[in-house]
Amino acid sequence: MCGIVGYVGSNNCYPMLIKGLHRLEYRGYDSAGVAIIDKNNRINAYKSKGKVETLEHNCEDKNVEGTIGIAHTRWATHGEPSDVNAHPHLSEDGTIALVHNGTIENYSLLKEALIEQGCSFKSSTDTEVLVQLIQYIRDTNGCTLLAAVQEAMNQVVGAYAIAVIDNQISDTMIVARKSSPLVIGIADDATYIASDASPIVEYTNRVVYLNDDEIGIITRGEPLKVINVDNTPSPIDIQTLKLSVSQLEKGGYDHFMLKEIFEQPMTIGDSIRGRVVDGQVTLSGVQENKEAFRKARRIIIIGCGTSWHAGLIGRHLIQDMARIPVQVEYASEFRYSNPIINSDDIVIAVSQSGETADTLAAIQIAREKGAFVYGVCNVIGSSIARETHSGTYIHVGPEIGVASTKAFTGQVTVLTMLALAIGQLKQTVDNETIGAICEGIKQLPAFIGETLKLNDKIEKLSRIFTYAHNFLYLGRGYNYPSALEGALKLKEISYIHAEGYPAAEMKHGPIALIDRELPTVVIAPKDNLHEKIISNIQQVKARGGSVIAVVNKGDETIAALADHTIEVPSVPECLSPVIVSIPLQLLAYHIAIKKGCDVDMPRNLAKSVTVE
Ligand code: M6R
Repeated sequence: MCGIVGYVGSNNCYPMLIKGLHRLEYRGYDSAGVAIIDKNNRINAYKSKGKVETLEHNCEDKNVEGTIGIAHTRWATHGEPSDVNAHPHLSEDGTIALVHNGTIENYSLLKEALIEQGCSFKSSTDTEVLVQLIQYIRDTNGCTLLAAVQEAMNQVVGAYAIAVIDNQISDTMIVARKSSPLVIGIADDATYIASDASPIVEYTNRVVYLNDDEIGIITRGEPLKVINVDNTPSPIDIQTLKLSVSQLEKGGYDHFMLKEIFEQPMTIGDSIRGRVVDGQVTLSGVQENKEAFRKARRIIIIGCGTSWHAGLIGRHLIQDMARIPVQVEYASEFRYSNPIINSDDIVIAVSQSGETADTLAAIQIAREKGAFVYGVCNVIGSSIARETHSGTYIHVGPEIGVASTKAFTGQVTVLTMLALAIGQLKQTVDNETIGAICEGIKQLPAFIGETLKLNDKIEKLSRIFTYAHNFLYLGRGYNYPSALEGALKLKEISYIHAEGYPAAEMKHGPIALIDRELPTVVIAPKDNLHEKIISNIQQVKARGGSVIAVVNKGDETIAALADHTIEVPSVPECLSPVIVSIPLQLLAYHIAIKKGCDVDMPRNLAKSVTVE
């Protein structure tokens, strides 16, 4: 969480910094700030509680001139969202400014020690400790800013991506990372830094991803230098970005979320391109690691939020097709559970951003214990993509809406192909079945397109439910995780409490909640549990509940029972989560819009959760 951006060049940096902050706002939007060194070597810093537009408004009459600057958009961890807790933070004498994404775990010990030395603090953040520490080391040791940053990195425990400027060396910015992402963009006339490539892409496609414990020294007019904390030079690996500016715009839609929902015929096409050919699946990650997949005795899928839901569907898929036992774990629980991991286990890490702190930490544990770690990520070059031994990108393009939509369907599609690829390799699934599912996968873009035509109907339906304070989502088998995901979509963007449940579990407790006020969404495609789920619908109806059923076209039995039906095309059972998630995404979106919620930036949330 939090987004940082910086510029060293010969143009006024303020417009670039503000534009960059808007691109990074998905990472947090509690407060924002900029610090720019002006031509008199003064650091001018401006900070505002709220979104970047508030900062822009507050800066209208301020001196924002200067050719070196840093900026930040915050998701609060230590200290409430406020002007004073916003970044950049300045050292006590105002000579050093710093922006930070991450958390400093030992900040209170360091703070106490600095207070004893006479430092005073303005904010209640962990970050201010870091900038004060850097100033203290620089002044006490009489050393350079670089040496002070190196020494500070030795003293702090935690996660950070930082950018630091010092008005005593006004042509240089120092950046450093440990467990939080940082990208450096190299153009002919300027150098850019950011938490991801989105603020950089319109200026250059040449980027360097900083590794953990590395420090970048960016000096105007000089080539980038990268060293590690021990002062050893690191090789500079310049990579070419495959991202376009148009992918980062709303493209005529009111919200990124709606755009991303409607992009799914294309994004699923991109996910499967070149991977499903002649009734077979080819994934290079599996081809290149056949032995690891052949000998795997167990697969552990880890992820958070929506990615964990995709992992639950992955379990069904892999167990069905590859006959390998699969367990699915929240990365945040797994990492602290003293997990038993063997060298013949495969750990699959699922993450859209590729930066989720808990998932990254769990990967490190799995690697240490000798497991083969496979990533299913969206963001190319992200930390998780680089920390895993191999993997498959979902290729759905940048997802900016905080609520995950196209990434979820991309993850499920890739996990389907992964299950088939392992099944092919282990010969646990017959060619006819593989061929039929491959055919279904190829038809997914068209079926999603057809399902999106339900948008108007769902928009009308949503008007009925804006009153609701609670929702229940029920599903079975492959679609129990779809129920969890539908409920998560609704609660995170509309603030309506929603619970997903396995339909048959309802009678063990949640049935007590059913009354006229509680809408129940039942996901009921015609699969082998269809008859069973009809009984569950009857149980809800018998208690006066109202049912919105997601069914396959022509399902008259459920149409006669439910209050509202949403008809989706029939696909092979294992692909149904991709199709049923489309109306669930639209329902959540329209209910949230009717309630006046900010669907792209829901309260308290951030897209990329890079803190514990
Ligand atoms: O980037 P990741 O997939 O690792 O993110 C995991 C969760 O933070 C994410 O899925 C979150 O739950 C979304 N807001 C759900 O829409």
